[in-house]
Parts: sequence; C-alpha cells; structure tokens
Amino acid sequence: MQAGNPAQIAVVGLGYVGCVTAACLASLGHRVLGIDRDRHKVDNVLQGRAPFYEPGLEAMVRDNVAAGRLSASTSASGIGDAGIVLICVGTPSEKNGNLGLSQLRRAVEEIAAQVPGRSQPLIVAIRSTVFPGTCEEVVLPALAGHGSVTVVSNPEFLREGTAVRDFMEPSLLVLGGLDRAAVQTVADLYAPLGVEACLVSLRTAEMIKYACNAFHAVKISFANEVGALSDKLGIDAHEVMNTLCEDKKLNVSAAYLKPGFAFGGSCLPKDLRALIYRAGRLDLNLPLLASALPSNDEHLKRAVDAILELPARRIGVIGLAFKEETDDLRESPVVTLLEQLIGKGRDVRVFDPHIRLDEIYGANRTFILESIPHIGRLLAANLEQVLGWAEHLVLAQKQSAATMELIRHSGLPVAGLVDGTVQSSPAGPALSRAGD
Ligand SMILES: NC(=O)c1ccc[n+]([C@@H]2O[C@H](COP(=O)([O-])OP(=O)(O)OC[C@H]3O[C@@H](n4cnc5c(N)ncnc54)[C@H](O)[C@@H]3O)[C@@H](O)[C@H]2O)c1
Repeated sequence: MQAGNPAQIAVVGLGYVGCVTAACLASLGHRVLGIDRDRHKVDNVLQGRAPFYEPGLEAMVRDNVAAGRLSASTSASGIGDAGIVLICVGTPSEKNGNLGLSQLRRAVEEIAAQVPGRSQPLIVAIRSTVFPGTCEEVVLPALAGHGSVTVVSNPEFLREGTAVRDFMEPSLLVLGGLDRAAVQTVADLYAPLGVEACLVSLRTAEMIKYACNAFHAVKISFANEVGALSDKLGIDAHEVMNTLCEDKKLNVSAAYLKPGFAFGGSCLPKDLRALIYRAGRLDLNLPLLASALPSNDEHLKRAVDAILELPARRIGVIGLAFKEETDDLRESPVVTLLEQLIGKGRDVRVFDPHIRLDEIYGANRTFILESIPHIGRLLAANLEQVLGWAEHLVLAQKQSAATMELIRHSGLPVAGLVDGTVQSSPAGPALSRAGD
C-alpha cells in the first residue's frame, strides 16, 4: 500500500475466504490490506501470487497488487485508519463438535488493541462462520468501551473451486447488525455486484449461514439416498432426480420451506414408511429419509408441550383436517395433538369449517373414530360455539379472513402463528403445515 493511499478495507485472515474477499474487493476498486499471521501467505500476496489454488485468484491478486489496490501484512497494526475490517479467520471444529473461536477471539483482541487513538470510526464485519450469538457475546464485549466501533455480521457463501465467481455473482448477500448505517456501509462495498442485500439482525445473519449449510448438506444427502435406493431398484438415479428438479412449483421452490406445524395426511407418512421398509428389505440404510417421521413426531411433541404450558384448561382448536381446505383427517397431526391434550386432562372443543362428522365416511371416518371415539362430542357445529366456550385458542390451520376477524373480535388469546395474521401467545411453534 502506498503512503498517502491508505487502505479503506482491512481483511483479517488470508485463507480461502479472506484472500478471495480481499482480491475481489480490490478488483471492484477498493483499496484493501490483507492481514494474516501466516508469513507465507502474506509474502505470496505481496509477490502477486495466490497463497493457494483457486481458479482465477492468482491473476486477480497479481493485477491488484500491481495496481496498488491490494497489499498484505502480518501485523494488525496495518489496519491504520481503514474504515472497515472484515474478519475471515478460521472457525474449525473442536473435538466435541463445538465451533472453535480461538482464532476469532485473538483477531478481535488484536483489532481492539488498534482502536485507541484512531482518527475515524471502525466497522468490524464478521465474515467467518460463527454460531448465532457470537457477535453479541464474543465480538461486541471484546470491543466494548470503544464507542467508535460497530459490529456487523456478513457471512460468506462462496464455495471453494468457484470462489471468485461465487464472490462476483453471489447467490445471497446477507448483512446483520444493530447499527443500520454501519450495515449499509458494508453493503455498499458490494454495490458494484448489483445484488440486493438482505438486511437482518446480527443473530439472524449468523443463523442464515448455518441454515444454508445445513440445507445444502440435507439436499446432498437426500439426493444420495434417493440415488442409492434407485440404484438398488435398477432405476436411473439421475433421471429420477433430474425429473424431480423439473418441478419448480413444489420441489425446487420455496414450497414446504416455512417453519410451521408437523406434516400429516394420507400420503407423506404412508409413503415415507413404505420407502424405509422397502429399503430395509434391500439392506439399504437411509438415515436421512428414516429420520423424517421421527423428526415430525418431535415437532408435534413440541407443539403439545407448548399448549400444555398455556394457562388454560378449556382449549378451542380451530382446524382438524391435516391441512386447510380439505376434510381429510387421515394421519392429521391435529388429531394426535387432540388425543394428547385430552390424555393430559385438557378440555378441548374443535371446529373445522369443512368437517361434519355425519358427512365423512370410509377410511377417513374410521381413522377419526378409532383415534378419538367421542370426537362427536368435541366437534363444534360452528366457530361461535368454540369462541364462547374456550379460554384459549389454538389455530391449527390457515383460516379465511372472515374467520380470523371473528377470532380477533373474540379477544381470546391465540396460540399459533399462521402467516403472521394472528397475535400469538408465547405458545411456541407455529401451527400450520400442509403436507400432501
Ligand atoms: N472455505 C470455504 O469454502 C468457506 C466458505 C464460506 C465460509 N467459510 C468460513 O469462513 C471462515 C474462514 O474459512 P477459510 O476456509 O478461509 O479458513 P482458512 O483456514 O483457509 O483461513 C483462515 C486464515 O486466518 C488466518 N488467521 C487466523 N488467526 C488470525 C489472526 N489473529 N490474525 C490474522 N490472521 C489470522 C490463518 O492464518 C488463515 O490463513 C471460516 O469460518 C469458514 O467456516 C469458509
């Protein structure tokens, strides 16, 4: 970095994330100083070389060092008056699986030591993957007392092997923080990329990174398990998954990706059970697919526990079928929920606009009468009966605007968040999930 041309941005950690971040930001026109304790990495950058192999990185480092926009140092004192420090140090697993924060703690301490006497405010942005709460519980306290320092979470989503391209064409740009001006300042670094930033809270930004990585891992494992079963059955696994991906409405879409109630119905539980049973007969272990029903049971249990915590004995449940706009009761999680509430001594009345016991028949009728033989006594003929009787409502399905208005008008506390249209009591899980 030339004298009189100080870095605007310091990047701490010149590993896969840090070096790519430093070189790419420099190529967007920013003046960047990369800082790493590893002298080998710093020397490589100073000589215009990438410290590891990553397609396109070497040329980018070379060009930006030559242009005077990118430099490197082993010392945090190089931060100087840079307005933004991006922390990209490693956060490796500890033996017990916990996230190792020693590199992060040390980097933050080293930055804190540079703050006194600075002539301008400093934004510390955390790009390393850190567990939700780390910025608030680890980074902020270490920088406490330095009024001119703000902390932003800015997780990185690049993939090794395509890191430069992923940086330049990000799949997602997330920034979190309490100080909106600081968040916007960091977001502005990426403005030339033309991607709209998602501005959230600190913890949400940290969580989004974990949610994305967990989702990717689950997707890969799902495809591999479907592939393994297809192979065993002599079916072309690629044709199966490629065709699955053709469905952009339900499969590769936001469908089913909202936290809500447990799934149920006449298809999902039955078909998962059959898949697992047949895989077992083929000596095929499919732990991800096998975990879906137990996961669903756990989710239902959390809902039951939350409702049992309510300070109410008379509970009115709105919705009985496994989802709205149907009268199908087969494997409805609401039926299981009712069984458990009744078993725990709660008084329950239920209303579902599409269910009249005298009109349902066949497997549907058998299922409900076997589960709750006295369901007829619990079913209200209309919503008003429930509203006039209950101490607390549980909203188990999305309801029409008219029904929601009546519920609101009743003034009763409501457990369950359905599309955010209802004020919720602290009853825990949202209560609505349509399976098929
Ligand atoms: N590698 C990826 O594909 C990827 C993608 C997205 C997010 N992440 C996350 O980004 C973070 C960094 O990952 P990485 O793969 O680049 O790690 P890395 O191990 O390749 O690089 C970390 C660098 O930080 C340096 N460092 C450690 N402490 C330092 C200090 N106090 N001062 C200066 N330098 C210091 C190390 O010497 C090392 O060069 C991790 O939290 C990781 O989970 C990684």
